[in-house]
Amino acid sequence: MIALGSDHGGFALKEEIKKHLTERGVPFTDYGTDSEASCDYPVYAALVTKAVASGEAEKGILCCGTGIGMSMAANKVKGIRCALCGDCFSAEMTRRHNDSNVLALGGRVIGAGLAMKIVDLFLDTPFEGGRHARRVQMVMDLEG
Ligand code: RB5
Repeated sequence: MIALGSDHGGFALKEEIKKHLTERGVPFTDYGTDSEASCDYPVYAALVTKAVASGEAEKGILCCGTGIGMSMAANKVKGIRCALCGDCFSAEMTRRHNDSNVLALGGRVIGAGLAMKIVDLFLDTPFEGGRHARRVQMVMDLEG
């Protein structure tokens, strides 16, 4: 299951992602928000990252205006490796090298077409392991 969340700035993009995941047959849970009314992105970052960190969700996708606030909030949560992506190369490499478990997207930065390609790469690209596993562990050790 993929956990989805957004604030008002990422709401429209989250709705596009829901359509895309439905077409792909990928199960998801929408943790909100449910409209374009102004709201606080850390609320939704907390809900989605809790689902991922607990194992309830395999991965999470968070959308806000820039993706920056969501990624900052998500990376405060133990066990979360959130990557803000605005291009396909980064989306592929963050899975291969960083084993990222949450994707952040900027709904006011990228269009839906590019966003869906990024989502697909994030969902479909495996972690390479090997030397990258050691580095990812070093990152996680910084959590204390
Ligand atoms: C909301 O106006 C905006 O600040 C938010 O969506 C996000 O871009 C924060 O990082």
